[in-house]
Amino acid sequence: MNLDINILNKYKTPFYWYNMEVLNTTIKLIKAESEKHGYHVHYAVKANANIPILKAIEKFGFGTDCVSGNEIKQSLEAGFTPDEIVFAGVGKNDEEINIGLENDIFCFNSESIPELEVINELAGKKRKKASVALRINPNVAASTHHYIATGLEENKFGINMWEMEDVLSTLNTLTNIELIGLHFHIGSQITDLQDFKGLCLRVNEIQEWFYARQIIVDHINVGGGLGINYDEPDKEAIPDFKAYFKLFKDFLKLRPKQQLHFELGRAVVGQCGTLISKVLYVKKGVKTKFAIVDAGMTELIRIALYQAYHKIENLSSQKAIEKYDVVGPICESSDCFGKAVELPETKRGDLIALRSTGAYGEVMSSRYNLRDFAEAYYSTSTPLSGHSTPLGG
Ligand code: LLP
Repeated sequence: MNLDINILNKYKTPFYWYNMEVLNTTIKLIKAESEKHGYHVHYAVKANANIPILKAIEKFGFGTDCVSGNEIKQSLEAGFTPDEIVFAGVGKNDEEINIGLENDIFCFNSESIPELEVINELAGKKRKKASVALRINPNVAASTHHYIATGLEENKFGINMWEMEDVLSTLNTLTNIELIGLHFHIGSQITDLQDFKGLCLRVNEIQEWFYARQIIVDHINVGGGLGINYDEPDKEAIPDFKAYFKLFKDFLKLRPKQQLHFELGRAVVGQCGTLISKVLYVKKGVKTKFAIVDAGMTELIRIALYQAYHKIENLSSQKAIEKYDVVGPICESSDCFGKAVELPETKRGDLIALRSTGAYGEVMSSRYNLRDFAEAYYSTSTPLSGHSTPLGG
């Protein structure tokens, strides 16, 4: 990775470093490839909600996909317009639904009959009509970690097709709701495009079911989930968006005038972020040495939570390769970033990079052990608001 170690060394570790050039190149490609087919992209704010990141994405005219009232507020603060905001989530509370209603967001992705009833009631109180898409559980498998697969009936997400007749008869009684779309999402970090083909074929079947009941909605939303290459972030910094969007063009049957929406998170921001940490101590272990670094599961929980892999690099050393268990300082055995990691000989003070941490990294931080939140820096010459000290290349 091309980082100026002298610049990085000036900052208090651990910190997140965002390469805005990588982000901009990624967004440009998403824009070009999605526009070819007239598709709408809503960035999934849950992946990274930092204002400078949101602003960079907003500039390209995308919308957002939010899962809380605060994500809606953050999107608005970053400049996104309400008519491009979708609001999903299996448990929206009344206050959050009201934030969506007050701002006239584009669409609520609703996941249950009781939630539809509450949206209807709250919209009525405001004398408004809420636009709603039904989040349908397509019962389609995705080859990813079971914690981040969402499209099977056993998952808590979405409405199952066996309940749909009831949903439609309830909707007939809910006068403050307008059904505008169908929404799907089968999981995250999906690298086998065949999984998305499976989703397309299932959506086609489900559309037939609705068509047989004289229902054609204006919007189909197929969620997010496109994965990134954690193993080789430099070789493949940007996912194959061309193949991804083309797959939907080839296999998803849209009715005339129907619009297709995507909610990409990880594929947008994953590769632009790096967690930079410093080696505190190197100590002997039974099989390998331990490199104890000053970042831990409080800054990056993905490895402990999903057995995820993040490439680890020593930015300070070019010596002979040795094996290290790279661990954090938190009082948990699961606070381990990698076992028997091959690194050049490592010593106290070396800078360690944890790659591909732009998505679900900083945003999932906690203050466990009463640690401070890590700072964030952005590689840009233009000063940005928020945690935004310009840094490096
Ligand atoms: N739409 C919906 C309805 C979602 O639930 C999600 C992610 C997305 C879009 C965006 O998915 P993406 O394009 O980023 O894969 N913390 C986990 C990932 C959780 C994903 C939750 N939902 C991780 O670190 O891998």
